[in-house]
Amino acid sequence: MIKIQNLHKAFGTKRVLQGVDLAIVRGKTTTIFGISGGGKSTIIKHIVGLLVPDRGQIIVDGIRLSHRDPATLYAIRRKVGFLFQSGALFDSMSVEENVAFPLLEHTTHGPTERSKRIHRALELVGLKPSEVLPLYPHELSGGMRKRVGLARTIIFEPEVILYDEPTSGLDPVTSDRISRMILHLQAQLGVTSVLISHDINESFKCSDYIAMLHEGRIVDYGEAEHFKDSSHPVVRQFVTGSVEGPIQLLND
Ligand SMILES: Nc1ncnc2c1ncn2[C@@H]1O[C@H](COP(=O)(O)OP(=O)(O)OP(=O)(O)O)[C@@H](O)[C@H]1O
Ligand SMILES: [Mg+2]
Repeated sequence: MIKIQNLHKAFGTKRVLQGVDLAIVRGKTTTIFGISGGGKSTIIKHIVGLLVPDRGQIIVDGIRLSHRDPATLYAIRRKVGFLFQSGALFDSMSVEENVAFPLLEHTTHGPTERSKRIHRALELVGLKPSEVLPLYPHELSGGMRKRVGLARTIIFEPEVILYDEPTSGLDPVTSDRISRMILHLQAQLGVTSVLISHDINESFKCSDYIAMLHEGRIVDYGEAEHFKDSSHPVVRQFVTGSVEGPIQLLND
């Protein structure tokens, strides 16, 4: 569904991505896993065209992403929903307006159809529409904000959903609920999912495939169930917990 080929990206003198190669399988969940600051968010920002590669290319469902062609970018954004690491709700808009936003941007649905879809998306993420619709982001808890972000991401029924650390900063119960919701969405909507995580246990729970990003490249890739037994030294460090990874949070 998505091919990332030889992707390079530097910010100033900092070489973040140094030849990332990764194929995302259609209808499955792939987790990109690696330490904080390693470039995971940078990879997915390239997939939706928010960043321009220094070198390499991205192909989504056969369309080669070109920044010089706005029509291509639009076509890809129509296929790909993106849950930002921070949730990224618009503070001055109510939950209803936030969730409606992609519908207004990408579809021509009238108010009745819009309202039906908003209700359905909120219910899918386990929120009661009547309670949350009029609220503003500052009136929501962290977990609710993530879920509203998720409802906004799934509202136009994208073929691909990119989740940037959907559970970071949440308590274990809410994290588990969100992980199960991701599995549920995949089963219900048949979407291709890309998950970003620095929590290896969380990754095992929801993924079909895991890709390990290390020093700007994918150094190991495989089925989630076999990944725990990988002999790659970096993966071993994460599995046994003897690494600076999960506690070295730089943002969020
Ligand atoms: N727009 C930008 N301008 C300059 N530097 C950037 C930019 N975006 C990312 N970086 C740098 O690139 C590196 C990788 O950032 P990125 O957000 O991709 O990491 P990450 O793996 O998602 O980390 P985390 O797990 O903490 O979210 C960091 O050192 C960051 O400071
Ligand atoms: Mg990130």
